[in-house]
Amino acid sequence: MDKIIVKGPARLSGEVEISPAKNAYLPILAAILLTDKKVTLTNLPKLRDINTMLKLLEMMGVECNRDGKNVTFDASSLSSHEATYELVKTMRASIFVLGPLLSRLGKAKVSLPGGCAIGTRPIDIHLDNLEKMNVKIEMKNGFVFAETDHLTGALVKLKFPSVGATENLMMAGVFADGQTIIENAAMEPEIDDLANFLNSLGAKVSGIGTSRLVIDGVKELNGGTYQAIGDRIEAATYIIGGLMTKSEMTVKNFNPKHLFNVLENLQGMGAKLEIGDNYVKTYPSSLKGSKVITEPFPGFPTDVQAQMVALLTVVEGNSLVTENIFENRFMHVPELTRLGASIEQLGSSVFIEGGRPLTAAPVMCTDLRASAALVLAALCAYGETKIDRVYHLQRGYEDLPEKLQKLGAHVELVNE
Ligand code: EPU
Repeated sequence: MDKIIVKGPARLSGEVEISPAKNAYLPILAAILLTDKKVTLTNLPKLRDINTMLKLLEMMGVECNRDGKNVTFDASSLSSHEATYELVKTMRASIFVLGPLLSRLGKAKVSLPGGCAIGTRPIDIHLDNLEKMNVKIEMKNGFVFAETDHLTGALVKLKFPSVGATENLMMAGVFADGQTIIENAAMEPEIDDLANFLNSLGAKVSGIGTSRLVIDGVKELNGGTYQAIGDRIEAATYIIGGLMTKSEMTVKNFNPKHLFNVLENLQGMGAKLEIGDNYVKTYPSSLKGSKVITEPFPGFPTDVQAQMVALLTVVEGNSLVTENIFENRFMHVPELTRLGASIEQLGSSVFIEGGRPLTAAPVMCTDLRASAALVLAALCAYGETKIDRVYHLQRGYEDLPEKLQKLGAHVELVNE
Protein backbone atom coordinates (compact mmCIF):
# COMPACT_ATOMS: atom_id res chain seq x y z
CA MET A 1 0.00 0.00 0.00
CA ASP A 2 1.20 3.54 -0.73
CA LYS A 3 2.69 5.51 2.14
CA ILE A 4 4.22 8.96 2.37
CA ILE A 5 7.45 9.52 4.26
CA VAL A 6 8.21 13.07 5.37
CA LYS A 7 11.56 14.12 6.86
CA GLY A 8 11.19 17.23 8.98
CA PRO A 9 11.50 19.93 9.87
CA ALA A 10 11.24 21.44 6.39
CA ARG A 11 11.79 24.92 5.03
CA LEU A 12 9.97 25.49 1.74
CA SER A 13 10.74 27.95 -1.03
CA GLY A 14 9.74 28.76 -4.60
CA GLU A 15 6.33 28.47 -6.24
CA VAL A 16 3.56 25.90 -6.27
CA GLU A 17 0.88 25.77 -8.95
CA ILE A 18 -2.61 24.97 -7.77
CA SER A 19 -4.68 22.52 -9.83
CA PRO A 20 -8.27 23.09 -10.99
CA ALA A 21 -10.72 22.41 -8.18
CA LYS A 22 -11.92 18.85 -7.61
CA ASN A 23 -15.14 20.11 -6.03
CA ALA A 24 -15.82 22.31 -9.06
CA TYR A 25 -15.02 19.61 -11.61
CA LEU A 26 -17.11 16.86 -9.98
CA PRO A 27 -20.51 18.57 -10.54
CA ILE A 28 -19.32 19.94 -13.90
CA LEU A 29 -18.52 16.36 -14.99
CA ALA A 30 -22.02 15.28 -13.95
CA ALA A 31 -23.45 18.23 -15.91
CA ILE A 32 -21.87 16.76 -19.07
CA LEU A 33 -24.85 14.39 -19.04
CA LEU A 34 -27.15 17.33 -19.81
CA THR A 35 -25.97 17.95 -23.34
CA ASP A 36 -25.80 15.76 -26.43
CA LYS A 37 -23.17 18.10 -27.94
CA LYS A 38 -19.41 17.67 -27.47
CA VAL A 39 -17.82 19.32 -24.44
CA THR A 40 -14.10 19.56 -23.70
CA LEU A 41 -12.85 20.03 -20.14
CA THR A 42 -9.24 21.11 -19.87
CA ASN A 43 -6.52 20.34 -17.33
CA LEU A 44 -8.59 17.76 -15.43
CA PRO A 45 -6.54 16.98 -12.31
CA LYS A 46 -5.20 13.42 -11.90
CA LEU A 47 -7.26 12.51 -8.86
CA ARG A 48 -9.04 9.35 -7.78
CA ASP A 49 -12.41 11.14 -7.43
CA ILE A 50 -12.14 12.59 -10.92
CA ASN A 51 -11.31 9.11 -12.29
CA THR A 52 -14.30 7.65 -10.47
CA MET A 53 -16.61 10.24 -12.04
CA LEU A 54 -15.12 9.52 -15.49
CA LYS A 55 -15.74 5.80 -14.92
CA LEU A 56 -19.34 6.53 -13.95
CA LEU A 57 -19.91 8.60 -17.10
CA GLU A 58 -18.39 5.84 -19.25
CA MET A 59 -20.61 3.22 -17.61
CA MET A 60 -23.59 5.34 -18.60
CA GLY A 61 -22.51 5.29 -22.23
CA VAL A 62 -20.75 8.67 -22.42
CA GLU A 63 -17.72 8.68 -24.74
CA CYS A 64 -14.68 10.19 -23.02
CA ASN A 65 -11.75 10.92 -25.34
CA ARG A 66 -8.61 11.74 -23.41
CA ASP A 67 -5.84 13.93 -24.80
CA GLY A 68 -3.45 14.21 -21.87
CA LYS A 69 -5.33 16.11 -19.19
CA ASN A 70 -7.94 17.44 -21.60
CA VAL A 71 -11.00 15.25 -22.10
CA THR A 72 -13.69 15.60 -24.77
CA PHE A 73 -17.07 14.16 -23.85
CA ASP A 74 -19.88 13.03 -26.09
CA ALA A 75 -23.01 12.24 -24.08
CA SER A 76 -25.22 11.86 -27.17
CA SER A 77 -24.80 8.12 -26.64
CA LEU A 78 -26.07 8.23 -23.01
CA SER A 79 -27.64 4.80 -22.55
CA SER A 80 -27.96 4.06 -18.84
CA HIS A 81 -29.71 5.88 -16.02
CA GLU A 82 -28.03 3.91 -13.23
CA ALA A 83 -25.23 4.83 -10.81
CA THR A 84 -24.14 1.54 -9.26
CA TYR A 85 -23.40 0.80 -5.61
CA GLU A 86 -19.81 -0.18 -6.52
CA LEU A 87 -19.04 3.34 -7.74
CA VAL A 88 -21.22 5.41 -5.42
CA LYS A 89 -19.77 3.72 -2.32
CA THR A 90 -16.30 4.95 -3.33
CA MET A 91 -17.45 8.53 -3.98
CA ARG A 92 -20.52 10.28 -2.59
CA ALA A 93 -20.37 12.95 -5.29
CA SER A 94 -21.91 10.34 -7.63
CA ILE A 95 -25.25 11.69 -6.35
CA PHE A 96 -24.64 14.69 -8.66
CA VAL A 97 -25.83 12.61 -11.62
CA LEU A 98 -29.38 12.55 -10.23
CA GLY A 99 -30.45 16.01 -11.46
CA PRO A 100 -28.85 15.67 -14.93
CA LEU A 101 -30.27 12.15 -15.51
CA LEU A 102 -33.78 13.35 -14.65
CA SER A 103 -33.33 16.28 -17.04
CA ARG A 104 -32.05 14.17 -19.90
CA LEU A 105 -33.84 10.81 -19.49
CA GLY A 106 -36.67 11.51 -17.04
CA LYS A 107 -35.45 8.76 -14.74
CA ALA A 108 -32.53 7.84 -12.53
CA LYS A 109 -31.52 4.93 -10.32
CA VAL A 110 -28.73 5.99 -8.00
CA SER A 111 -27.31 3.99 -5.14
CA LEU A 112 -27.82 5.70 -1.76
CA PRO A 113 -24.44 7.09 -0.75
CA GLY A 114 -24.70 6.13 2.95
CA GLY A 115 -22.54 7.76 5.60
CA CYS A 116 -18.83 8.44 5.38
CA ALA A 117 -15.95 8.94 7.76
CA ILE A 118 -16.75 12.62 8.46
CA GLY A 119 -20.50 12.32 9.06
CA THR A 120 -23.83 10.71 8.20
CA ARG A 121 -24.34 13.03 5.21
CA PRO A 122 -28.02 12.48 4.33
CA ILE A 123 -29.42 13.56 0.94
CA ASP A 124 -32.90 14.62 2.09
CA ILE A 125 -32.43 18.21 0.87
CA HIS A 126 -31.69 16.93 -2.67
CA LEU A 127 -34.68 14.59 -2.71
CA ASP A 128 -37.33 16.68 -0.92
CA ASN A 129 -36.77 19.58 -3.29
CA LEU A 130 -36.64 17.45 -6.44
CA GLU A 131 -40.10 16.21 -5.44
CA LYS A 132 -41.26 19.83 -5.64
CA MET A 133 -40.11 19.81 -9.27
CA ASN A 134 -42.53 17.01 -10.23
CA VAL A 135 -40.20 14.10 -9.49
CA LYS A 136 -41.51 10.87 -7.94
CA ILE A 137 -38.96 9.37 -5.58
CA GLU A 138 -38.86 5.94 -4.05
CA MET A 139 -36.14 4.30 -1.94
CA LYS A 140 -35.77 0.57 -2.41
CA ASN A 141 -32.97 -1.93 -1.87
CA GLY A 142 -30.41 0.79 -1.13
CA PHE A 143 -31.23 2.78 -4.27
CA VAL A 144 -32.99 6.05 -5.01
CA PHE A 145 -35.45 5.50 -7.88
CA ALA A 146 -36.47 8.87 -9.33
CA GLU A 147 -38.83 9.45 -12.23
CA THR A 148 -40.58 12.37 -13.91
CA ASP A 149 -42.72 12.84 -17.04
CA HIS A 150 -41.31 16.38 -17.20
CA LEU A 151 -39.44 18.53 -14.71
CA THR A 152 -41.29 21.67 -13.69
CA GLY A 153 -39.72 24.81 -12.29
CA ALA A 154 -40.49 25.50 -8.63
CA LEU A 155 -39.63 27.83 -5.80
CA VAL A 156 -37.52 25.78 -3.41
CA LYS A 157 -36.15 27.01 -0.10
CA LEU A 158 -33.32 24.90 1.28
CA LYS A 159 -33.48 24.22 5.04
CA PHE A 160 -29.65 24.36 4.99
CA PRO A 161 -27.44 25.75 2.19
CA SER A 162 -26.19 22.35 1.06
CA VAL A 163 -23.53 22.58 -1.64
CA GLY A 164 -24.48 19.31 -3.34
CA ALA A 165 -28.25 19.91 -3.17
CA THR A 166 -27.84 23.41 -4.67
CA GLU A 167 -25.82 21.90 -7.54
CA ASN A 168 -28.24 19.02 -8.15
CA LEU A 169 -31.27 21.31 -8.17
CA MET A 170 -29.55 23.81 -10.45
CA MET A 171 -28.85 21.03 -12.96
CA ALA A 172 -32.43 19.77 -12.66
CA GLY A 173 -33.66 23.29 -13.39
CA VAL A 174 -31.78 23.66 -16.68
CA PHE A 175 -34.49 21.95 -18.82
CA ALA A 176 -37.42 22.31 -16.39
CA ASP A 177 -40.59 24.01 -17.60
CA GLY A 178 -40.55 27.63 -16.45
CA GLN A 179 -38.45 29.07 -13.68
CA THR A 180 -36.71 27.35 -10.78
CA ILE A 181 -35.78 29.57 -7.86
CA ILE A 182 -33.43 28.20 -5.20
CA GLU A 183 -33.58 30.21 -1.97
CA ASN A 184 -31.02 29.82 0.81
CA ALA A 185 -28.76 28.36 -1.88
CA ALA A 186 -25.15 27.57 -0.99
CA MET A 187 -22.75 30.28 -2.24
CA GLU A 188 -19.47 28.37 -2.46
CA PRO A 189 -17.31 29.48 -5.44
CA GLU A 190 -17.67 25.98 -6.94
CA ILE A 191 -21.41 26.67 -7.32
CA ASP A 192 -20.69 29.87 -9.26
CA ASP A 193 -18.34 27.82 -11.42
CA LEU A 194 -21.02 25.23 -12.21
CA ALA A 195 -23.46 28.04 -13.08
CA ASN A 196 -20.85 29.70 -15.31
CA PHE A 197 -20.15 26.38 -17.04
CA LEU A 198 -23.87 25.75 -17.64
CA ASN A 199 -24.34 29.31 -18.93
CA SER A 200 -21.37 28.84 -21.29
CA LEU A 201 -23.38 26.00 -22.88
CA GLY A 202 -26.53 28.13 -23.17
CA ALA A 203 -28.30 27.62 -19.82
CA LYS A 204 -29.91 30.59 -18.10
CA VAL A 205 -28.77 30.73 -14.50
CA SER A 206 -28.81 34.10 -12.76
CA GLY A 207 -28.24 35.34 -9.22
CA ILE A 208 -24.76 33.79 -9.38
CA GLY A 209 -22.81 34.52 -6.19
CA THR A 210 -25.97 35.11 -4.15
CA SER A 211 -28.16 32.88 -2.00
CA ARG A 212 -31.07 33.18 -4.48
CA LEU A 213 -30.39 31.38 -7.74
CA VAL A 214 -32.84 31.67 -10.62
CA ILE A 215 -32.79 29.11 -13.41
CA ASP A 216 -34.93 29.77 -16.48
CA GLY A 217 -35.56 26.49 -18.27
CA VAL A 218 -34.17 26.21 -21.82
CA LYS A 219 -34.89 23.69 -24.60
CA GLU A 220 -31.33 22.59 -25.35
CA LEU A 221 -27.67 23.11 -24.53
CA ASN A 222 -24.71 23.54 -26.87
CA GLY A 223 -21.22 22.12 -26.60
CA GLY A 224 -18.12 24.06 -25.55
CA THR A 225 -14.78 24.11 -23.77
CA TYR A 226 -14.28 24.94 -20.11
CA GLN A 227 -11.73 24.89 -17.32
CA ALA A 228 -12.72 24.91 -13.65
CA ILE A 229 -11.48 27.48 -11.14
CA GLY A 230 -8.28 26.89 -9.16
CA ASP A 231 -8.71 24.75 -6.05
CA ARG A 232 -9.09 27.15 -3.11
CA ILE A 233 -8.79 24.30 -0.59
CA GLU A 234 -5.55 23.01 -2.10
CA ALA A 235 -4.29 26.61 -2.10
CA ALA A 236 -5.21 27.09 1.57
CA THR A 237 -3.38 23.86 2.41
CA TYR A 238 -0.13 25.09 0.82
CA ILE A 239 -0.47 28.60 2.32
CA ILE A 240 -0.86 27.07 5.78
CA GLY A 241 2.12 24.80 5.01
CA GLY A 242 4.19 27.88 4.11
CA LEU A 243 3.28 29.55 7.41
CA MET A 244 3.86 26.42 9.50
CA THR A 245 7.37 26.01 8.09
CA LYS A 246 8.12 29.76 8.25
CA SER A 247 8.78 29.79 4.54
CA GLU A 248 8.83 32.40 1.81
CA MET A 249 6.87 30.76 -0.99
CA THR A 250 4.24 31.57 -3.60
CA VAL A 251 0.98 29.68 -4.08
CA LYS A 252 -0.42 30.51 -7.49
CA ASN A 253 -3.20 29.83 -10.04
CA PHE A 254 -6.26 30.41 -7.87
CA ASN A 255 -8.44 33.34 -6.85
CA PRO A 256 -7.55 34.58 -3.33
CA LYS A 257 -11.03 36.18 -3.09
CA HIS A 258 -12.37 32.60 -2.81
CA LEU A 259 -10.37 32.29 0.42
CA PHE A 260 -10.79 35.71 1.95
CA ASN A 261 -12.14 34.40 5.25
CA VAL A 262 -9.17 32.05 5.70
CA LEU A 263 -6.68 34.75 4.69
CA GLU A 264 -8.28 37.30 7.02
CA ASN A 265 -8.09 34.79 9.86
CA LEU A 266 -4.42 34.06 9.15
CA GLN A 267 -3.59 37.77 8.98
CA GLY A 268 -5.39 38.25 12.30
CA MET A 269 -2.98 35.67 13.76
CA GLY A 270 -0.03 37.72 12.50
CA ALA A 271 0.62 36.07 9.13
CA LYS A 272 2.62 38.19 6.68
CA LEU A 273 1.00 37.53 3.31
CA GLU A 274 1.25 39.20 -0.07
CA ILE A 275 -2.12 38.79 -1.78
CA GLY A 276 -2.20 39.19 -5.56
CA ASP A 277 -4.94 38.65 -8.15
CA ASN A 278 -4.15 34.97 -8.60
CA TYR A 279 -1.54 34.18 -5.96
CA VAL A 280 -0.65 34.46 -2.29
CA LYS A 281 2.94 34.70 -1.07
CA THR A 282 3.80 33.67 2.48
CA TYR A 283 6.61 35.15 4.57
CA PRO A 284 8.12 33.81 7.80
CA SER A 285 5.79 35.11 10.51
CA SER A 286 5.36 34.84 14.28
CA LEU A 287 1.82 33.63 14.76
CA LYS A 288 -0.47 33.53 17.75
CA GLY A 289 -3.56 31.41 18.49
CA SER A 290 -7.00 32.02 17.07
CA LYS A 291 -10.71 31.21 17.31
CA VAL A 292 -12.11 29.45 14.24
CA ILE A 293 -15.71 28.46 13.50
CA THR A 294 -16.57 26.60 10.31
CA GLU A 295 -19.60 27.84 8.40
CA PRO A 296 -21.04 27.74 4.89
CA PHE A 297 -19.37 30.17 2.44
CA PRO A 298 -18.47 33.01 2.97
CA GLY A 299 -17.61 31.63 6.44
CA PHE A 300 -14.50 29.62 7.28
CA PRO A 301 -14.58 26.42 5.16
CA THR A 302 -14.88 23.06 6.87
CA ASP A 303 -12.47 21.73 4.23
CA VAL A 304 -9.67 23.87 5.76
CA GLN A 305 -10.47 23.09 9.40
CA ALA A 306 -8.07 20.13 9.76
CA GLN A 307 -5.16 22.02 8.19
CA MET A 308 -5.90 25.00 10.46
CA VAL A 309 -5.87 22.75 13.52
CA ALA A 310 -2.43 21.49 12.43
CA LEU A 311 -1.20 25.09 12.17
CA LEU A 312 -2.65 26.09 15.54
CA THR A 313 -0.74 23.28 17.27
CA VAL A 314 2.59 24.94 16.40
CA VAL A 315 1.84 28.64 17.00
CA GLU A 316 2.20 30.39 20.35
CA GLY A 317 -0.89 30.57 22.55
CA ASN A 318 -4.21 28.79 22.84
CA SER A 319 -6.92 28.30 20.21
CA LEU A 320 -10.49 27.12 19.94
CA VAL A 321 -11.84 25.52 16.75
CA THR A 322 -15.52 24.68 16.31
CA GLU A 323 -16.77 22.42 13.50
CA ASN A 324 -20.32 23.28 12.49
CA ILE A 325 -20.76 21.46 9.17
CA PHE A 326 -19.90 17.79 9.74
CA GLU A 327 -20.44 15.98 13.04
CA ASN A 328 -17.35 13.76 12.93
CA ARG A 329 -14.62 15.83 11.37
CA PHE A 330 -11.93 15.70 14.05
CA MET A 331 -10.32 12.39 13.21
CA HIS A 332 -7.00 14.16 12.65
CA VAL A 333 -6.93 15.07 16.35
CA PRO A 334 -5.73 11.71 17.77
CA GLU A 335 -3.18 11.42 14.95
CA LEU A 336 -1.84 14.96 15.55
CA THR A 337 -1.62 14.08 19.24
CA ARG A 338 0.65 11.17 18.28
CA LEU A 339 2.99 13.78 16.77
CA GLY A 340 3.10 15.65 20.10
CA ALA A 341 0.27 18.18 19.69
CA SER A 342 -1.81 19.16 22.71
CA ILE A 343 -5.48 19.08 21.67
CA GLU A 344 -8.58 18.35 23.69
CA GLN A 345 -11.95 17.69 22.04
CA LEU A 346 -15.13 18.88 23.71
CA GLY A 347 -18.16 17.99 21.56
CA SER A 348 -17.95 19.89 18.29
CA SER A 349 -14.97 22.00 19.43
CA VAL A 350 -11.30 21.42 20.06
CA PHE A 351 -9.12 23.36 22.45
CA ILE A 352 -5.51 23.59 21.32
CA GLU A 353 -2.54 24.47 23.48
CA GLY A 354 -0.09 25.74 20.90
CA GLY A 355 3.67 25.92 20.71
CA ARG A 356 4.53 22.28 21.54
CA PRO A 357 7.39 20.91 19.41
CA LEU A 358 6.17 18.12 17.11
CA THR A 359 8.15 14.92 16.73
CA ALA A 360 7.85 12.21 14.09
CA ALA A 361 5.63 9.14 14.58
CA PRO A 362 3.78 6.69 12.34
CA VAL A 363 0.30 8.11 11.62
CA MET A 364 -2.71 7.12 9.57
CA CYS A 365 -4.94 9.07 7.18
CA THR A 366 -8.67 8.87 7.88
CA ASP A 367 -10.16 11.24 5.30
CA LEU A 368 -8.99 13.69 2.69
CA ARG A 369 -8.47 16.89 4.68
CA ALA A 370 -7.35 15.07 7.85
CA SER A 371 -4.62 13.54 5.68
CA ALA A 372 -3.50 16.97 4.48
CA ALA A 373 -3.27 18.11 8.12
CA LEU A 374 -0.98 15.18 8.90
CA VAL A 375 1.35 16.00 6.00
CA LEU A 376 1.57 19.63 7.19
CA ALA A 377 2.30 18.58 10.77
CA ALA A 378 4.91 16.09 9.52
CA LEU A 379 6.68 18.92 7.68
CA CYS A 380 7.19 20.62 11.08
CA ALA A 381 7.94 17.49 13.10
CA TYR A 382 11.51 16.47 13.94
CA GLY A 383 12.41 13.14 12.34
CA GLU A 384 10.83 10.81 9.81
CA THR A 385 7.03 10.57 9.83
CA LYS A 386 5.46 7.66 7.98
CA ILE A 387 1.91 8.39 6.83
CA ASP A 388 -0.27 5.39 6.04
CA ARG A 389 -3.46 5.06 3.94
CA VAL A 390 -2.54 7.94 1.61
CA TYR A 391 -5.21 6.88 -0.89
CA HIS A 392 -7.37 9.41 0.96
CA LEU A 393 -4.95 12.16 -0.11
CA GLN A 394 -4.92 10.94 -3.68
CA ARG A 395 -8.66 11.65 -3.89
CA GLY A 396 -8.11 15.38 -3.76
CA TYR A 397 -4.47 16.54 -3.90
CA GLU A 398 -2.88 16.26 -7.31
CA ASP A 399 0.83 15.33 -7.24
CA LEU A 400 1.22 16.28 -3.59
CA PRO A 401 4.61 14.59 -3.03
CA GLU A 402 5.99 16.06 -6.28
CA LYS A 403 4.71 19.56 -5.51
CA LEU A 404 6.23 19.47 -2.01
CA GLN A 405 9.53 18.08 -3.35
CA LYS A 406 9.68 20.98 -5.81
CA LEU A 407 9.30 23.34 -2.84
CA GLY A 408 12.33 21.67 -1.25
CA ALA A 409 10.67 19.29 1.23
CA HIS A 410 11.93 15.75 1.82
CA VAL A 411 8.75 13.90 0.93
CA GLU A 412 8.61 10.51 -0.69
CA LEU A 413 5.80 8.26 -1.87
CA VAL A 414 6.71 4.62 -1.20
CA ASN A 415 4.91 1.37 -1.80
CA GLU A 416 5.40 -1.16 0.99
N1 EPU B 1 -26.88 17.76 4.53
C1 EPU B 1 -28.10 17.27 4.90
N2 EPU B 1 -28.97 16.87 3.92
C2 EPU B 1 -28.65 16.96 2.59
C3 EPU B 1 -27.39 17.47 2.21
C4 EPU B 1 -26.51 17.87 3.21
O1 EPU B 1 -28.42 17.19 6.09
O2 EPU B 1 -29.48 16.60 1.76
C5 EPU B 1 -25.90 18.17 5.57
C6 EPU B 1 -24.65 17.28 5.53
O3 EPU B 1 -24.84 16.09 6.25
C7 EPU B 1 -23.60 18.17 6.14
C8 EPU B 1 -24.02 19.57 5.67
O4 EPU B 1 -25.41 19.46 5.29
O5 EPU B 1 -23.66 18.11 7.53
C9 EPU B 1 -23.21 20.10 4.50
O6 EPU B 1 -23.32 19.23 3.39
P1 EPU B 1 -23.24 19.73 1.89
O7 EPU B 1 -24.35 19.09 1.13
O8 EPU B 1 -23.11 21.21 1.85
O9 EPU B 1 -21.87 19.08 1.43
P2 EPU B 1 -21.60 18.15 0.17
O10 EPU B 1 -22.22 18.71 -1.03
O11 EPU B 1 -21.89 16.74 0.53
C10 EPU B 1 -19.43 19.45 -0.49
C11 EPU B 1 -18.00 19.11 -0.74
C12 EPU B 1 -17.34 18.76 0.57
C13 EPU B 1 -17.45 19.96 1.51
C14 EPU B 1 -18.92 20.36 1.69
C15 EPU B 1 -19.12 21.61 2.52
C16 EPU B 1 -18.04 18.23 -2.98
C17 EPU B 1 -17.87 17.05 -3.87
N3 EPU B 1 -17.92 18.01 -1.67
O12 EPU B 1 -20.02 18.29 0.07
O13 EPU B 1 -15.97 18.51 0.29
O14 EPU B 1 -16.89 19.66 2.76
O15 EPU B 1 -19.51 20.59 0.39
O16 EPU B 1 -18.45 22.68 1.98
O17 EPU B 1 -18.23 19.34 -3.44
C18 EPU B 1 -13.80 17.62 0.65
O18 EPU B 1 -13.47 18.08 -0.44
O19 EPU B 1 -12.98 17.18 1.49
C19 EPU B 1 -15.23 17.60 1.01
C20 EPU B 1 -15.72 16.80 1.96
